[in-house]
Amino acid sequence: MDGNGRWAAQRGWPRIKGHKAGVKAVEAVLEAAVAEGLGHLSLFAFSTENWKRPGPEVASLMALLRMYLRMFRRRFLEKGIRFHHLGASAGIPEGILRDLKELEAATASHPGLVFHLALNYGSRLELVEAARRCVADGLGAEAITEESLGARLWTGGAPDVDLIIRTSGELRLSNFMLWQSAYAEFYVTETLWPDFGGAQLRGALEAYHQRERRFGGL
Ligand code: FPP
Repeated sequence: MDGNGRWAAQRGWPRIKGHKAGVKAVEAVLEAAVAEGLGHLSLFAFSTENWKRPGPEVASLMALLRMYLRMFRRRFLEKGIRFHHLGASAGIPEGILRDLKELEAATASHPGLVFHLALNYGSRLELVEAARRCVADGLGAEAITEESLGARLWTGGAPDVDLIIRTSGELRLSNFMLWQSAYAEFYVTETLWPDFGGAQLRGALEAYHQRERRFGGL
């Protein structure tokens, strides 16, 4: 969800106002994703590297997340959305972690869209933890396969990524789903995240449907 800071700076506002506007975009995109019948939507809210940001910005972001996750709860229940926290638990403030777990449990049986919120997420850490889990589960070298390792990622059970949307014109993966996006299609837009909404998501999906996916074949 890139570009919140720049969106605020363009208006001479503090960065947190950009993040607040970013939450409105989350609402709009979630709604459109449900309407479009998507199976999975993953949003990258906070990386394992984002803790390096100034303390006040991190604190405000965490407070914002907590407040809005509580507000989103009713919508998840109404729309049958299943919530999933994607990321490491260690390092997340206890109250937020409790809320995340509670939201996962309350929506676990929901049949609709699975909303993966990447929070304290880093793809390299995810891979290291999956490897550690293979060892803890007693897997020998031959038992380590794409399936057994993939199943131990935080996304275990979710399909591979089909489409990565990158807002604000950034042209890198930023440690996001390195394994899962092996054959993902890329869609890069100059639109800053707070200006991204249902129409922009539909535009990205249209572009995606024009692509010919070969998965390395002919
Ligand atoms: C990146 O923009 C955005 C973030 C680090 C935070 C995104 C989080 C939210 C929008 C809150 C989501 C809340 C819920 C409830 C899902 P940036 O700050 O790096 O912007 P810049 O690149 O313009 O500086």
